Amino acid sequence: MSNFISQASYKLFKTAAFQLDPEFVHEHSMGFLSKFPGLSSKIFGENDLGTRYTLNIGGNSWPFPIGLAAGLDKNAMAIDFFSKLPLGSVEVGTVTPKPQAGNDKPRLFRIVEEESLRNRMGFNNDGADVLLERIKRSQKNGRVLGVNLGKNKTTPADKACDDYATLYKKFASDCDYLVINVSSPNTPGLRDLQGEEEMDRIFDALAPLRTEKPRPLYLKIAPDLSDEGILSLVEISKKHNLTGLIATNTTIMEERGPGGVSGKLLAQKGREVRFKILEALKETPDIDLIGVGGVSSSQDLFDFWKAGGNLMQVYSAFIFQGPALLQGIFQDVEKLLQRNDSDSLSQLLENRDKIDWL
Ligand SMILES: Cc1cc2nc3c(=O)[nH]c(=O)nc-3n(C[C@H](O)[C@H](O)[C@H](O)COP(=O)(O)O)c2cc1C
Repeated sequence: MSNFISQASYKLFKTAAFQLDPEFVHEHSMGFLSKFPGLSSKIFGENDLGTRYTLNIGGNSWPFPIGLAAGLDKNAMAIDFFSKLPLGSVEVGTVTPKPQAGNDKPRLFRIVEEESLRNRMGFNNDGADVLLERIKRSQKNGRVLGVNLGKNKTTPADKACDDYATLYKKFASDCDYLVINVSSPNTPGLRDLQGEEEMDRIFDALAPLRTEKPRPLYLKIAPDLSDEGILSLVEISKKHNLTGLIATNTTIMEERGPGGVSGKLLAQKGREVRFKILEALKETPDIDLIGVGGVSSSQDLFDFWKAGGNLMQVYSAFIFQGPALLQGIFQDVEKLLQRNDSDSLSQLLENRDKIDWL
């Protein structure tokens, strides 16, 4: 079906949905999409990506370089739906070992005029057992599946490593990559785990499990770190042989209220953190950076590629633009390939200094 119809249907949905409470809409949309996974191909067309756009990064083949960021399909309800959109990956979670309710409502807010969101969800999720069953039942349609791991609120900081180990063990055989999330601002003390000692404790606890069940492993970090903090986490990723970093999670903007802000209000900060990390990783091409935070157009992706990055994720822009965001990026990537007379994206990015950009 044409882009015009899919754009019109999302516009219509958005007009109604934005009159209602954001979390109410989110919950009901996910419930609906879980029941009608075939809807994506009906409305948005078949998105059989083939191999033209595939990037082989960190032990996985991403059929498209844009993925869905954690938190949107928190409970792994609609993997089948998202796997039919022009997305290369779906990251579910954050999941904690035990189910938990999260913070009191309301806890999700739209900042419409700035195409941004603020949330103080607090890792509300159905827990590891339920998510694992849903993941096992899902059809990924060739997409890469990531699972984002967090600690329960009641787990003390010095026992956080046990939660991450439990979750690693649980999900390693049923996903394509795992993420250690220590960067949500909504679990008290979580971001303190980004300290060197705390990181060592977590990754030392994971080491034997990683030997037993090797699986690509990323660390997701906050945008609100000092330059030294960022560089120390780059060093941690090298020291513990991680597949890469994911930057960034939401940012704290006290003037906007409690919680973490995402979308356009995060874009500049997220970009600066990512460029710092890419610079620091220049000498270690084996460690990758998945870029996230304020990504809202193909230009963001192209700028990331110019700086040496490969894969990005989206969340807030998808809420504001709908699947048209993905279709627009897809079309621009195709235009870039055609303009450069290139058969594949991986080939194109091998010689990125010579690319004739759009
Ligand atoms: C409502 C909401 C819930 C989120 N939940 C999680 C989460 O559970 N785990 C996580 O790692 N990131 C979570 N995030 C952060 C996103 O994955 C992403 O890092 C952040 O929103 C920045 O990207 P964006 O500007 O494209 O939204 C959440 C974001 C939002 C808006």
